[in-house]
Amino acid sequence: MSTVEARTCLVTGAGRGIGRAVARRLSEQGHRVALTARSVDQLTEVAGELPGPPLVVAADLTSADGVERVFHTVEQQWGPVEVLVASAGAGTSAPLMHTTDEEWQRMLELNLTAPFRCLRRAVPGMVDRGWGRIVVVASVAAKRGERYVSAYTASKHGVLGLVRATASELARSGVTANAVCPGYVDTPMTKGTVATISERTGRSEEEAMQVLQAAQPIGRLVTPEEVADAVSFCLSNPAVTGQGINVDGGAVQS
Ligand SMILES: NC(=O)c1ccc[n+]([C@@H]2O[C@H](COP(=O)([O-])OP(=O)(O)OC[C@H]3O[C@@H](n4cnc5c(N)ncnc54)[C@H](OP(=O)(O)O)[C@@H]3O)[C@@H](O)[C@H]2O)c1
Repeated sequence: MSTVEARTCLVTGAGRGIGRAVARRLSEQGHRVALTARSVDQLTEVAGELPGPPLVVAADLTSADGVERVFHTVEQQWGPVEVLVASAGAGTSAPLMHTTDEEWQRMLELNLTAPFRCLRRAVPGMVDRGWGRIVVVASVAAKRGERYVSAYTASKHGVLGLVRATASELARSGVTANAVCPGYVDTPMTKGTVATISERTGRSEEEAMQVLQAAQPIGRLVTPEEVADAVSFCLSNPAVTGQGINVDGGAVQS
């Protein structure tokens, strides 16, 4: 347990993968951590792993009511959210010409509109207190375009734009807004990507995994804990705002 001031944190997508690692890290640092995602069983499991006090609020964040209910519940229990980590998200892949309106819309709703609504809801309380930290888990897909992920890439470029604009607007308020931009991380989402590659190409899952590992200069997947390290850094340094910090084994140099 560190000696940092205990803050009220909300982690979206906290049921597994990156959000789970971030929730654990914040709790180990002595903060109060509220966990949200749709699957209450996964959230309850993560809550059981935390050394500090957990709060589980299951919600679908693609609904405006869901976002409102999460913030309202945290405020009722603990007061305003001081640290928001928006990790909930998902990917999809298809060639541009086969990307349906439904998939396009799903990516924008989950990866862009949901974080927008969370930031919009979190910011007034942070500005009132003169202190706040916002970290959105974006992707290297926020920094460059790749084949077969146009909808995901557009949503992640969009959310990085949202973070940059928010940081500019709040620069003198004591509130910082940053994104972390991971490459392939060892999470259930990447297991799904491996299964899709295997299904579509006829490669074994092991071969598909090797393709993803080789896509990163370090030759391996990033760990969720390495992403949590970058999130933690964003929380600790008030001079870092408006950044998209790559945690991608050197794939994008910017
Ligand atoms: N894994 C990677 O290689 C990678 C790389 C770059 C960026 N990212 C980004 O990192 C973030 C986390 O990815 P991950 O790998 O940790 O994914 P993951 O293991 O699939 O976890 C995603 C989390 O988001 C939640 N979620 C999904 N849809 C939701 C919804 N409609 N409402 C509320 N919660 C929802 C999921 O819970 P429920 O399904 O129970 O709702 C889950 O807790 C995503 O934004 C992703 O785009 C991942």
